[in-house]
Formats: sequence, structure tokens, C-alpha cells
Amino acid sequence: METIPITIFDTTLRDGEQSPGCSMNVEEKLRMARQLDRLGVDVIEAGFPIASVGDFEAVRAIAASVRRPTIAALARARREDIERAWEALQHAARPRIHIFLATSDIHLEHKLKITRHQCVEQARTAVALAKSLCQDIEFSPEDATRTDPEFLLEVIQAVVDAGATTVNIPDTVGYTTPGEFAALIQKIRRQIRAIDQVKISAHCHNDLGLAVANSLAAISAGARQVECTVNGIGERAGNASLEEIVMALRVRPEQYPFATEIDSRRLFPISQLLTEITKVAVQPNKAIIGRNAFAHEAGIHQDGMLKNPLTYEIMTPQSVGVPDSRLVLGKHSGRHALALKCAALGFELERQQLDEVYRRFVVLADNIKQVEDHHLLELIGEIEDKEIRIPPAHVEELPVSLAVAAAAGGHRPASAKALAVLHAEKKPSELPLHPMTDHHHEEDYLWGV
Ligand code: KIV
Ligand code: ZN
Repeated sequence: METIPITIFDTTLRDGEQSPGCSMNVEEKLRMARQLDRLGVDVIEAGFPIASVGDFEAVRAIAASVRRPTIAALARARREDIERAWEALQHAARPRIHIFLATSDIHLEHKLKITRHQCVEQARTAVALAKSLCQDIEFSPEDATRTDPEFLLEVIQAVVDAGATTVNIPDTVGYTTPGEFAALIQKIRRQIRAIDQVKISAHCHNDLGLAVANSLAAISAGARQVECTVNGIGERAGNASLEEIVMALRVRPEQYPFATEIDSRRLFPISQLLTEITKVAVQPNKAIIGRNAFAHEAGIHQDGMLKNPLTYEIMTPQSVGVPDSRLVLGKHSGRHALALKCAALGFELERQQLDEVYRRFVVLADNIKQVEDHHLLELIGEIEDKEIRIPPAHVEELPVSLAVAAAAGGHRPASAKALAVLHAEKKPSELPLHPMTDHHHEEDYLWGV
């Protein structure tokens, strides 16, 4: 299938960094920029040089040492911003000045206090000045999706005529919807003269949770660059998430016949790096890189996963750099996963033993969120009525690959060989004596599940 290239413009170090708690110093930005380069992004927006000395230094350092991608720096449509951006960027292998100016009436009247006419002239003059310094110029009409479309076209035509090479359409406040945004991109493509000489870009915020959907709609409508951030960090509810856009394109090529240069196996590592640097945790259910994105607790799901991971996973964890899927033992788990977990811990249980462990397991799981290895070892110990040993290293969840190997009669994990003595803290009688839950009635159903 023929695929159309999509430029990935990463703004983790600019828009992402602007979000509360996510600021980074020069050295941290450099670390991220090196990994963004390895990830394969096409453009790194390294900062907003006029904003602070630190941001200026970060852009300069990244421009000097990260040479493959285009390095962009943000500037308002003002001489001092543009000159400062250029000063930071001038030694980059591929520099880009990114100019923005608000175009919606609400911003013009209340924030900038200028007329529409002044806005067009300011945009045109700024792009012309930047063009005299640098060949690669991006222009963003801030709040484009709340701008009168006819006026938006007037501004875009002015900046295209002045030499802009990329026209970015920001949904600054995360207000648009996929259909509406696609129609706007198509209108721009139809009505701007010489638009085929210019790349159209989408920059979506997530205030309604639509940033990725809107970005994909823009691509389908003809945008050839998307602006996004690692972990979806960014102003307020964040920017479109890089990992989600990239994997949507990759997993659904029949819907999206587009290609990026991203090495998807680096998505999880770079997400982890960003979390380590900013200390801003990712929500567990975050698509692609969240802790639960490849975790399975429900018995029916675990059973399907053990038979064939395609039953409940649309991409492999390895394809995005996650080491393995995890089977989490909780109150929704079935015997299949329990038996394999016991085997991985070094205990091949007879059917009757497993029944007994399972009975105790569901009682315990109803009372605690997640059943860990040491709980399981206690339960096994109770039914075997002997001292139980646990591995010195804590094994948190059962990786699916290990479980599948165990199911296929593979060798026992090394951890099971190095058992240390555990004196069970609770006797069977000390187990919470709650009445049997619904699980018990489902035993036969859950057997094999
Ligand atoms: O959201 C926005 O409008 C921006 C611009 C600077 C592109 O971040
Ligand atoms: Zn933004």
C-alpha cells in the first residue's frame, strides 16, 4: 500500500514544558532532545527563546548538538522575539522560526487590542522579517478554530505570500471536533493560492479529549504535519499525544495510509524518561504507555491472552517498547492465570490443590486490590501446610510471555529456584472469613477461564 509521509513535529519541550510541573532545565531538555532524535521525530520545537535565558540556552544547545531533525523555536509576531529566536537557532543544521499571532476576535479585542487589519499586517511583516533570516518559516494563527473562517483565510493568504513554508492550524483551546476541523483544513486547501507549496499542520489541544481524533481528522483532510507531545503533556488538558497518533496510523493503515519515521519501540522508553525528568506521572489507563495499557486482570481476558494475545491486544507491547504484557492477579482473575502464576512461582498444583488455593484467593482478592506473589505463597503454604519459600526478588506481575512458556511446559523461572524461607504471617483461620462471593458460584464457569 502506498503511504503518504507525515511530519511529526514534537513540541514536548515547548508547549509540553509550559504545563504545570513540567518545566525542564537546559540539561534535561538536551537529554529529551537526544531521545526525540533517536525516536525519529522530524521537528523538535526546542523552546521559546524570548521567554527566558534558560529557554534561549536550551534552544541554542539543542541546535548545536542535535543535527538530524529540524529544530524550531517559537516567537511572537514581534521583531525582538524573531531576532532572539534566530540568535538561538542560527547554528542549527535545519533551523525553523515558528511565529504565532492570535486571529480570533476574542483574542484580538481582549488580549492584543488590535484590529483585524492590524493583525494581517503584523502577521505579514513578521513572516517577511523571519524569512530574511531563515528559509524555513512556520506561522500559527493562534485560536484558529474560533476565528471567523473568512478572516482566517485572509491571514493565511498573507503569510503564504510573505514566505511561510508551513501553516499550522492550532485548536488552541481544544474546542473543535473532528468533522469541523477536517472541513476547515479542506477549505484552506481549496481556497488558498499556492497552498501546494506549503505544508498544512495541525496543533490540537485536549480540552474535550479530542486532540488525537482531531489531529487524525486533519491528516485525513490533507494536513501533512501534526504537532504533538510525549505523554500528551501540554497546556491545560494537554496536547495531542505523540504515541497515540503514531500508533493509530500504524495499527490502522487501511484507515490511515500514512507513514511516519518514528521508531515505535522507543515510545515507552521516552515516555518513562519524560516522567523521570518531570516527575509528572502518567495516568495508569493512558493509551500506549500507561501502566495498564498492556495489563489484564479479568479472568476471561487472561484466558484469551494466554491462548492468543491477539484476542485482547491490538498491538504487541514490544512494538511500543513495553517489555511484556502483564497478568495482574485480582478479584476478576480466573484459575487459568492463577495456575500459571503458581507454576511460575515453582508450584505445580494438582486440580484439588488449585481449587483450594483459588477458593482462598477469591476471598483474599475481594479484600485487597491486587494479590501479590507473597500472598499467593502464603495461600499455597496454608494448603500444603508447610513452610513456603519466596524468591528474594519481588516479581510483581506475571509477564504473558513467561506465562505462555509455563503453559507450554517451559522451564521454571530462575526466581523459583532461589527460594527463601517465609513464615506465613496469617494462619488459615486468620484469613478474612467473609462469605463466599459470586466468584464461588462461577467456579465451574471460571475453570478454564
Ligand atoms: O496552542 C497554540 O495555539 C500554540 C501556538 C503557539 C501554536 O501553542
Ligand atoms: Zn499549543
